[in-house]
Amino acid sequence: MKLLVINGPNLNLLGLREPDIYGRQDYAALCDMVREQAQRLGVEAALYQSNHEGDLVDAIQQAYGVYDGLVLNPGAYTHTSIAILDALKAVGIPTVEVHISDVSQREPFRQISYAGMACRHHIIGHGLRGYLEAMQWLAENLPR
Ligand code: DQA
Repeated sequence: MKLLVINGPNLNLLGLREPDIYGRQDYAALCDMVREQAQRLGVEAALYQSNHEGDLVDAIQQAYGVYDGLVLNPGAYTHTSIAILDALKAVGIPTVEVHISDVSQREPFRQISYAGMACRHHIIGHGLRGYLEAMQWLAENLPR
């Protein structure tokens, strides 16, 4: 099983960025955690991060036929990007939406998730652990 973990804008600044909300671990630490989880689960995992909406659309399109599942935190594009929603619908790859913070308890503009409308499962507000839970969900719920 091959998984791709996609992170959107500003998630490369984990650790620096609003640590009270997103924690003190940096993006490199997240990458290490994802790779360790892949080993534990016996799956392959790759990571991709971009600050650009079109690059995220390209990554989702290019995942078609390559990856069996996606873990996706679109960052702020969660709340704005119909293009990312459409890309997920186009490729139909089972996707788990992850948010580090509990967006349901934050500003009104964070209450809509376009990308989430095409996701099979959602893990919200579990910190970086949420990515590992998303990988586990895919490993347990996708056909091998
Ligand atoms: C986020 C929540 C979004 O609202 C925000 O724009 C982010 C991070 C999260 O992981 O909690 O960039 O997706």
